[in-house]
Amino acid sequence: KAPEAAGASAPVAEASATGGDVKEYVVGTDASYAPFEFQTDKGDIVGFDVEVLSAAAAKGGFKVKFINTPWEGMFATVNQGDRDILSSAITITDERKQSMDFSDPYFEARQLIAVAKGVSDVKTFQDLKNKKVAVQTGTTGDEVVQKLLGKTNANIKRFENMPLALKELETGGVDAAVGDNGVVINYVKNNPQHGMVTVEDTKSFAPEYYGFAVKKGNAELLGKVNAGLKAIKADGTYDQIFNKYFGA
Ligand code: ARG
Repeated sequence: KAPEAAGASAPVAEASATGGDVKEYVVGTDASYAPFEFQTDKGDIVGFDVEVLSAAAAKGGFKVKFINTPWEGMFATVNQGDRDILSSAITITDERKQSMDFSDPYFEARQLIAVAKGVSDVKTFQDLKNKKVAVQTGTTGDEVVQKLLGKTNANIKRFENMPLALKELETGGVDAAVGDNGVVINYVKNNPQHGMVTVEDTKSFAPEYYGFAVKKGNAELLGKVNAGLKAIKADGTYDQIFNKYFGA
């Protein structure tokens, strides 16, 4: 099977590269979100989302160029035409679907709580009711915490990116941080010196699904993204990337 696959893929890639209408799309991403999107020491933008979208682009017959873009205000950039695609571990929500179109889901996530090691009174999300909680502004983590504590509660500390929210927990400015499980786990694991642990609560937090976003009505591009996604899910490329980042 291997030689055949190798032989078959080379001409296809070449044909599309010389096909004339291979468009390059500008992709907005908040590259402070390891392991989904982050920057190497050299400044290259890498991560799970980057690999999935790049692989989907190769199959879908288009090119992508990633540009670091702050999370706050990101959604507007796709409507203004400054970015063609948003690839930023974005949870597909009904509210967001009103202003952008989303690809088929490519990842399942859930909110996760982080607290300082040794904290014994945080077993469920409800236990955060009277605590100070750090979140990334405008994320689904921010939304769930708002629901629990109330939108204007001063105990919600909002940060422009997730590392800042987690740093606030490290330095004791808050009692907990809430964010996407993949990112919280990654941070806690890579900063063992700070003594943080995670608290899972699958009852309080529903599964969330990440999608790539395009400008509302851009069916042509959405079709290409979905065709590419479908192809990499079918041929094992997606699984390979998944295992690279999240495999045992
Ligand atoms: N999944 C969450 C949401 O859509 C958080 C995404 C934040 N992504 C990022 N690259 N900072 O609200």
